[in-house]
Amino acid sequence: MTFPTALPAPRTPDPMDAPPLRWGVLGTGWIAQRFCDALARHTRQRVLAVGSRTREGADAFADAFVARNADASGRLERPATYGSYEALVDDPDVDVVYVATPHHLHLPHARLALGAGKATVVEKPMGLSRSEVDQLEALASARGLFLMEALWSAYLPKFDVVRQLLDDGVLGTVHSVQADLGEHFGPEHRIMRADLFGGPRYDLLTYPLWFARWVLGDLVEAAEVVTPAPASVSPDGVEGQIAVSARSASGGVASLFATILGDTPTTATVVGSAATLSIDGPFYQPGGFTLRAHDGRELRYDEPRIAHAGLHFEAAAAARAVAAGRLTAHHQTTG
Ligand SMILES: NC(=O)c1ccc[n+]([C@@H]2O[C@H](COP(=O)([O-])OP(=O)(O)OC[C@H]3O[C@@H](n4cnc5c(N)ncnc54)[C@H](OP(=O)(O)O)[C@@H]3O)[C@@H](O)[C@H]2O)c1
Repeated sequence: MTFPTALPAPRTPDPMDAPPLRWGVLGTGWIAQRFCDALARHTRQRVLAVGSRTREGADAFADAFVARNADASGRLERPATYGSYEALVDDPDVDVVYVATPHHLHLPHARLALGAGKATVVEKPMGLSRSEVDQLEALASARGLFLMEALWSAYLPKFDVVRQLLDDGVLGTVHSVQADLGEHFGPEHRIMRADLFGGPRYDLLTYPLWFARWVLGDLVEAAEVVTPAPASVSPDGVEGQIAVSARSASGGVASLFATILGDTPTTATVVGSAATLSIDGPFYQPGGFTLRAHDGRELRYDEPRIAHAGLHFEAAAAARAVAAGRLTAHHQTTG
């Protein structure tokens, strides 16, 4: 394969064209807010209902959602509000439930949604272990229901261009992937709490891990080095940093790093025998990359750096899959 003269265009369909589903949002935290805003502003998906542990929480979320988005999206219906997750999943008008609770609650809450017969999109990581994911997949499959992990990066136009470059062999033999994701958090953040399975492992690391598998295939051998967060950062003593070295079946090597102790470049690099792909930080969000051949030729990709406003791409992908009767569209990060 010779070095291309231009990059392929993303094949990602217009999110506005995705068939509108009626979404029920389970849990009203940081990501749920951004997810709902992205839906309201960039898709025809409807945030039909919101479930919280308290009715007050659901009402506050619904009111703030309408206040933030009414102008941007014209007429905006106020979601129905429920003071329990059980009541939310029982709403007969909800087509698909978006589970946005802390990591360790994904299993029970996704089970709840699937048990109520709903298509279910679960925030990453879908489970804390392969066995938890297996349980959910078995339940969804037994009931003929759609189940997807909300690994939103996988649905961004940027990564469709990268996928085409990989599939077309533009990089040659892919030898290695490097990716890091480090962020500074305040002491009050859930990522500092042991009871909420804090630390980088179930959170930030999911992105480098997803990316390495997405490029290299299954990782067959891995070793990790972990350091605890200092007590001054997390009195709970959650993991602070984790470095993973892994090998894929094809002989590729992954070098991955995640930390809650500070900001890192958050870039990703794929090294091939013919070219190197360098994804700008934050690599897992909408943004750009550079493809560079050994002789110095370069091609540059850019897309609007809209951060979490890009969450609508995964919602549109889920809507298309559900409407088409597919049972999954997920990219698994738990192994
Ligand atoms: N895709 C992304 O870019 C992205 C970014 C951030 C987080 N996430 C994922 O989304 C999930 C939620 O993260 P977040 O940052 O949104 O967390 P968060 O702000 O703490 O929100 C979590 C929500 O879960 C509900 N909840 C139920 N039981 C809870 C408990 N025991 N303690 C705390 N909250 C509880 C609460 O909603 P109610 O009070 O309404 O019940 C709470 O608002 C995580 O698994 C994370 O990995 C994804």
